[in-house]
Amino acid sequence: MAARTPDADREYLDYATYLGLDTLLAAQRPLSDPPHHDELLFIVQHQTTELWFKLMLHELRAATALVRQDDLEGSFKILARVKHIQTQLLNQWSVLETLTPTEYAQFRYVLGPASGFQSHQNRLIEIALGKRDRRVLESFRHTPAVLAELEDALRQPSLYDEFLRWLARRGFDVPREVLDRDVSEPYEANDAVTEVVVAIYQAPAESWDAYEMAEKLVDVDETYSLWRYRHLKVVMRIIGQNRAWTKNYGIILGLCKHPKTPPAIAMSFVQRLNEKDLKHLTTDRNAKEGLRLLAKKMLTKGKV
Ligand code: HEM
Repeated sequence: MAARTPDADREYLDYATYLGLDTLLAAQRPLSDPPHHDELLFIVQHQTTELWFKLMLHELRAATALVRQDDLEGSFKILARVKHIQTQLLNQWSVLETLTPTEYAQFRYVLGPASGFQSHQNRLIEIALGKRDRRVLESFRHTPAVLAELEDALRQPSLYDEFLRWLARRGFDVPREVLDRDVSEPYEANDAVTEVVVAIYQAPAESWDAYEMAEKLVDVDETYSLWRYRHLKVVMRIIGQNRAWTKNYGIILGLCKHPKTPPAIAMSFVQRLNEKDLKHLTTDRNAKEGLRLLAKKMLTKGKV
């Protein structure tokens, strides 16, 4: 059969074909038996999140490339979209919150060991934004192609790395060791970079673009933290506090550091932090004072 031209394809095109609705709408496959009414909500909530993740990743990569090409204005337009995607994701939690603990418990068995921990797009977003933590790769050993994609992403400069390079090109005093660092390793705070950022904030009118980019990065970071926090609240609401997730160190650390975590919960989790994170907590200005004191006490008593 002769190959069809794009124009000929378009003649056959309708709404469902263009959007691949056959595939999309066939991808919700509840496993509960007998079928549980609420499993569809659970699947759709995850799938729509993954779709928004896909778009967010696409946009973050484009924004990073634009910064690399010195087109900061172009990246602002894209980052504005990223912010709206994040807001959408944040608001979306309220749909899942209508699932009660009883309903969830009735079909939880179908999930087996599957967990959001294995969302590779979530990890790619974190990496694109600058997080470097090889421990999360462990969850992807059984999917070599995904593992390779994550490892490759870890070797790419993040949006923040590209911003630092742009600042240097614009004449800001970003140290050479920061610009030439191995981007696959975690970023370490640098006093000279802090001075650059302070200078930008002290005189925004002298470099509006640098100031606006710094604000956009803080916005994206803050909204990402809020998304994670809402996830924790949903988890607490639906499966309570004494389940497997409280064994997850990253989640415990996140809860300790989050200013909105109820003090009693934060205090109980601080006991499980390692020395390095306890030290960070003692100087974390976002953490509640009681928590900082407890961390200090634990360090001086040599409890860790
Ligand atoms: C009933 C609803 C949900 C429950 C009970 C739940 C529970 C959990 C638990 C227990 C973890 C910790 C990892 C583990 O122990 O395996 C986790 C992690 C995670 N979940 Fe959920 N989850 C829910 C909904 C969702 C939804 C809708 C998403 C959207 C994709 C999601 C994304 C994630 C991600 C990305 C992580 C990894 C977090 C990190 O380590 O940064 N979860 N979830």
